[in-house]
Amino acid sequence: MNVELVGRILSTLPEDDDHPYRTGPWRPQVREWNADDLQVVAGEIPADLDGVYLRNTENPVHPAKKFYHPFDGDGMIHVVGFRDGRAFYRNRYVRTDGLRAEMEAGGVLWAGISEQPTVAERDGWGARTRMKDASSTDVVVHRGVALTSFYQCGDLYRLDPFSLADLGKEGWNGHFPLDWGVSAHPKVDERTGEMLFFNYSKEAPYMKYGVVDENNDLVHYVDVPLPGPRLPHDMAFTENYAILNDFPLFWDEALLAKNIHAPKFHRDMPSRFAVIPRRGGTEQIRWFEAEATYTLHFVNAYEEGDEIILDGFFQGDPEPGDVPGSDKWDRAFRFLALDRLQTRLHRWRLNLSTGLVKEQQLTDSITEFGMLNGRHAGLGYRYAYAATGKDGWFLFDGLVRHDLKDGTEERYAFADGVYGSETAMAPRVGSAAEDDGYLVTLTTDMNEDASYCLVFDAARVADGPVCQLRLPERISSGTHSTWAPGAELRRWQTADNAAAAIGL
Ligand SMILES: [Fe+2]
Repeated sequence: MNVELVGRILSTLPEDDDHPYRTGPWRPQVREWNADDLQVVAGEIPADLDGVYLRNTENPVHPAKKFYHPFDGDGMIHVVGFRDGRAFYRNRYVRTDGLRAEMEAGGVLWAGISEQPTVAERDGWGARTRMKDASSTDVVVHRGVALTSFYQCGDLYRLDPFSLADLGKEGWNGHFPLDWGVSAHPKVDERTGEMLFFNYSKEAPYMKYGVVDENNDLVHYVDVPLPGPRLPHDMAFTENYAILNDFPLFWDEALLAKNIHAPKFHRDMPSRFAVIPRRGGTEQIRWFEAEATYTLHFVNAYEEGDEIILDGFFQGDPEPGDVPGSDKWDRAFRFLALDRLQTRLHRWRLNLSTGLVKEQQLTDSITEFGMLNGRHAGLGYRYAYAATGKDGWFLFDGLVRHDLKDGTEERYAFADGVYGSETAMAPRVGSAAEDDGYLVTLTTDMNEDASYCLVFDAARVADGPVCQLRLPERISSGTHSTWAPGAELRRWQTADNAAAAIGL
């Protein structure tokens, strides 16, 4: 393995930090590495694994104004790239405007999600306003470029998906919605090359929806009026429709009037789904009502006859109560634990002819952060690959392959003290079958004070990894990931080089 230390960020966090999401498996990483020819600890790198696995993590550099929440941490992207049986690794902080300003100031300037916006020293980003756009939530690849995002709405930061070189902010040819930004989970449709997104705000109409085409033009952008400020996190799409949502978990209206942002679950209100033709106008939105819940993430959606099938993680208890005797950390972060939220894979059937919804729980298992073979996004599919959570924590202690046709599942549990990342599915080069490919994840191994990249056969999860690669140092746990096929990345590189050669 050829390892080079290429960067180090000066952290001002206390040496004796006791914050559970800045220590242990969430200890921030401050060093940036290049590593080529990753050391194979076990197994063999599949020769037909070609592309990059990208993962976003939260790595705070400075103590919070008052109270740190892990979603406030500065984004750091990790990439493990595979081709011809070899693999490389890079990690880089996302050089956001906020990170640069705080490095200059030597301390934190903005409010976090657990703090009131008034503690911020400057105007900032986010639907709440006065937050730092940490760009630490998700990463997707559109047009061969990695884009990092912020759950509260912000800029999209562009990185080269191989080198992680900083390519600046996304502009969509001058039409990026700088006033509202873009929410955490823009959706790339591999079939059309489009990217679908929404954003939200405390200002009416409270939500907007848009489409960016394969030329990077914002070709569609419409209002999705809501009854008030909401906290949408994810969306879904089918071949012909986009599906947005209005869940009854939102800021308490009386407190919001005093500029206090306290999410409250309104058990007596329905969940609502907006179905809009992908290039449809506001007047074409159809609303569907379902049982009250909150859903952080959807897996997929597709059309079947008159119905739209929508799969996501239904929260049995979106507002978990205090456990008697729990400490301040448990109380503060109970909303991050899958067991407390009771997240279960769920199917909503939205009937376009009757306007009615049928819904069903698909499994008793508590899982979240579901991924699928990207070629099936928006289309019929059978397999979802999801994470299990350590009780009481935002940590992934295993992975599950859900077979949605048979209703069966196959599991792999990491050893105690080992935590994985959101696991992406990488179709095998030349594959046709949906589950013919690999699952890629990065571990944070507290037993060995190390991190590994694990590769599984997607069809044989329970067999354990087929390959284990050592990373230069232990990485922090984090949030989302993606897989980008090598052939697609090279297609865009070739196109970009050709455009540059003729001066475009
Ligand atoms: Fe998310």
